[in-house]
Amino acid sequence: MNNIAIFASGSGSNAENIINHFNGGNLARVVLVLSENKDAFVFERARKLSVFTVLFSLEELKSGNVLSILKQYNVDFIVLAGFLKLFPQSIIEEFPQKIVNIHPALLPKYGGRGMYGDKVHKAVVDAGEKESGITIHYVNNNYDEGGIVFQAKCPVFPSDKPEDLAQRVHQLEYEHFPKVIEKLLIKS
Ligand code: GAR
Repeated sequence: MNNIAIFASGSGSNAENIINHFNGGNLARVVLVLSENKDAFVFERARKLSVFTVLFSLEELKSGNVLSILKQYNVDFIVLAGFLKLFPQSIIEEFPQKIVNIHPALLPKYGGRGMYGDKVHKAVVDAGEKESGITIHYVNNNYDEGGIVFQAKCPVFPSDKPEDLAQRVHQLEYEHFPKVIEKLLIKS
C-alpha cells in the first residue's frame, strides 16, 4: 500500500477526487492533506473523508518540520493539487521522482511564479488561444518546470470567459489526475 500526501492551498476539489479515487482500493490511500492556508476549504473536504490534516507555516515547510511529518506517516508519494507555494529542495531531495504537480494549462506556456488558478485561465483567454488543457509534471525547485508526465487538451472558444475555461480544465483534471498518479505508482 502506497501512502499519499496531498498539498493544497485552496478549494481542494482535486484533493477530494483523488482521495475518493483511491478509497477502498489496495494500491494506495491518501494519509495526509497539508496546507499553509488555515482557511483552505480542502481541510473541510479532507475531514469529511476522515483524512488527517496538517496546517503548517512556511517556516515549518523550509525548516524540516513538514518533512518530519511526512516521514512519521510513512509517505511514499506527494501530490501538489492547487498548492501555490514553492516546494522546498529538502523535501524534493528525499522524494526523487515521487512528487507531482498539476498545472491548469499546457506548459511551458502560462506557467511560472504567480501563474495559478484563474490567473492562468484569464491569460489564456486574453491571448486568444484556441486550446488549453492540463499538465501533470514532476516537481523541481522552480515553479512549473519539472519533467512533464502527461498533458491533455481542451478547446478554448472565442466566447469563453476565464470561468468557462476553468470549468472545462477542471473536468480534465478530475478525469486524468487520479489515473496518472495510479500509473506512476504501479510503475514505481
Ligand atoms: C487546479 O485547477 C490546479 O490545476 C491549479 O489550481 C486549481 C486548484 O483547484 N493549480 C495551479 O494553478 C498551480 N500553478 P482545486 O483546489 O479545486 O483542486
